[in-house]
Amino acid sequence: MDEKQRISELRQQLHEHNYKYYVLNAPTISDQAFDFMMHELQDLEAKYPKMDDPNSPTKRVGSDLNSEFKQVAHKYPMLSLANTYNEQDVEEWFEQVARGLMGEEFEVCCELKYDGLSISLTYVDGQLVQGVTRGDGIHGDDVTENVKTIRAIPLVLSGNDYPHEFEMRGEILMPWKVFEQLNAEREANEEPLFANPRNAASGTLKSLNSRLVASRHLDSYLYYMLGEQLPTDGHYENMMKAKHWGFKISAGMRKVKSLQQIYDFIKHWDTERKNLPIATDGIVLKVNSLRQQRALGYTAKSPRWAIAYKFKAERACTKLVEVTYQVGRTGAVTPVANMEPVKLAGTTVKRATLNNADFIKSFDLHVGDYVYVEKGGEIIPKIVGVALDKRPADAKPISFITHCPECGTPLARYEGEAAYYCPNDTACPPQIKGRIEHFIARKAMNIDSIGPETVDDYYRRGLIHNAADLYNITVQDINGAGNREKSALKIVRGIASSKQVPFERVVFALGIRFVGETSARLIARHFKNIDALMEASLQDLTEVEGVGEVIAKSVIAYFSNPINKEIVARLRNYGLQMALSEEQQAGSSDKLTGKSIVISGVFTHHSRDEYKALIEQNGGKNVGSISGKTSFVLAGDNMGPSKLEKAERLGVPIISEDDFLKMIE
Ligand code: IVH
Repeated sequence: MDEKQRISELRQQLHEHNYKYYVLNAPTISDQAFDFMMHELQDLEAKYPKMDDPNSPTKRVGSDLNSEFKQVAHKYPMLSLANTYNEQDVEEWFEQVARGLMGEEFEVCCELKYDGLSISLTYVDGQLVQGVTRGDGIHGDDVTENVKTIRAIPLVLSGNDYPHEFEMRGEILMPWKVFEQLNAEREANEEPLFANPRNAASGTLKSLNSRLVASRHLDSYLYYMLGEQLPTDGHYENMMKAKHWGFKISAGMRKVKSLQQIYDFIKHWDTERKNLPIATDGIVLKVNSLRQQRALGYTAKSPRWAIAYKFKAERACTKLVEVTYQVGRTGAVTPVANMEPVKLAGTTVKRATLNNADFIKSFDLHVGDYVYVEKGGEIIPKIVGVALDKRPADAKPISFITHCPECGTPLARYEGEAAYYCPNDTACPPQIKGRIEHFIARKAMNIDSIGPETVDDYYRRGLIHNAADLYNITVQDINGAGNREKSALKIVRGIASSKQVPFERVVFALGIRFVGETSARLIARHFKNIDALMEASLQDLTEVEGVGEVIAKSVIAYFSNPINKEIVARLRNYGLQMALSEEQQAGSSDKLTGKSIVISGVFTHHSRDEYKALIEQNGGKNVGSISGKTSFVLAGDNMGPSKLEKAERLGVPIISEDDFLKMIE
């Protein structure tokens, strides 16, 4: 056999072994043998570049050369499903379907509802040609290169009875195990944790580096086929076909005819899902016949032929052992419940926030109580109730602390606020450290050569007391005892390079209470430099679109404090950006002041994010949905039909890309 033939043979065999390993979970060769074949193929492909194939198994390793994502219009909009939460809602849906079909018999396909992010995959002649995220349902991001690294997704289909062109939709998921491991690594590296596997999968899939995506071991289940010529009239039957072509289809799919069978399915999976390696949050019920699906049709938002039944959040009961208190960068004191570890929805939990004193009071919580915990969308679980019947005789009511656990200052409570505060903002350690951590954060000065533990270390060694001190640190200071010259140099360089961070992020980094990323940007763009901002009156500040009285007062209070004035003066001396760049000043105007603008469609000259920035730079506001208050829609190609209809109905003008650019010229 010549080497070119060998390339084809290896590709075919590797696709097959990949399928056995990642879809069937039943490998027939060792990992080592697989790697060996892969290396052979890589070598041969390097030798014969003309035989390149975008769907070769070697493309699964990703590359770090991805360009930014292209926005593409979905051929069929990606709708969502109506949610139900109880049997009665399911019954109503079932009866509505029966009425809609005028008494005709029908079957329902029951399947799991995967809790990841949806993806649309297009196949032409058995080859994966495109993978697109849901986006706004009308347009999504083209993430084909990233999708190719997901081994459960076939690049080339098996068999020969697939349609010439069709779309498969499904869910991309990060398995629990991978998620826990990833978060453990992030914790060790002092990086922010992902709240849940869905966010982690979404963050991963939208990474611009497909090699990173490949390293994250995402999984995928497919559950919906679309196209002009599908193999059969049955959804279930089509999924079985898809399974033969190499797709990973939900294992638990079942066709049923009665409500009772639906309830049995729900009941079974409500407990059984806890043994699955990935997150599910409900059941999806679909009328099986495609003909009947068409007859039932769609409402504005979702199909009438399908519905989602959401599981109740998982709940566990465990003992509250101790309450500890955390002091944040603003001085707010948050009580934390420390509990006996308990398994809940895929992870072990032992801590939950108790929010504030009112929350504790509302449950009349005692130390020693058995509490019910639930996990919502966040990784930090919530206490949702107390098992009063289990309260031990020696349980003690919780009395909220009266003094700061960190610096001993008596706590204060401000009017209208639920939290207690430590008012000692200039000398209370977690407040000082918290402000420095905020200053170096990615969205602020982005000094990623240091993390919270380093801040803690330097603070303890007396090297830093505020953000300005960072710029004073030398390699000698850091080195201390150990011989860590290289990393010390990296840290000092990292700090120095933050001097280029634009003014608006410097304003955010200062950590002025209530001034978030957006308000910092608005304020910076309005006042243009720090002197104008420091001199601004309450009235000047409230004139900024999007800045209310609370923010304005807080800005005034910040700059009237001599300690802060000194920090700002020092930062200026160190060379931080204290004004908008010339470029920003030149590009900014107030041509769009007071205008609310909706962006819709696919653009040619700039990306959506760039248009968003242009709107803001010119004083306008980018809003998500069209209403009577919308000034105009900035429309590219393929604007969504529902948006178009709404704009026309409300008489909102539609402006093309070119006209918009002229407008702000
Ligand atoms: S069918 C037209 N089946 O749930 C309906 N969706 O709210 C097409 N999902 O965006 C979707 N598991 O991301 C379908 N077995 C399943 C599903 C499922 C999860 C997600 C999907 C969709 C959302 C609907």
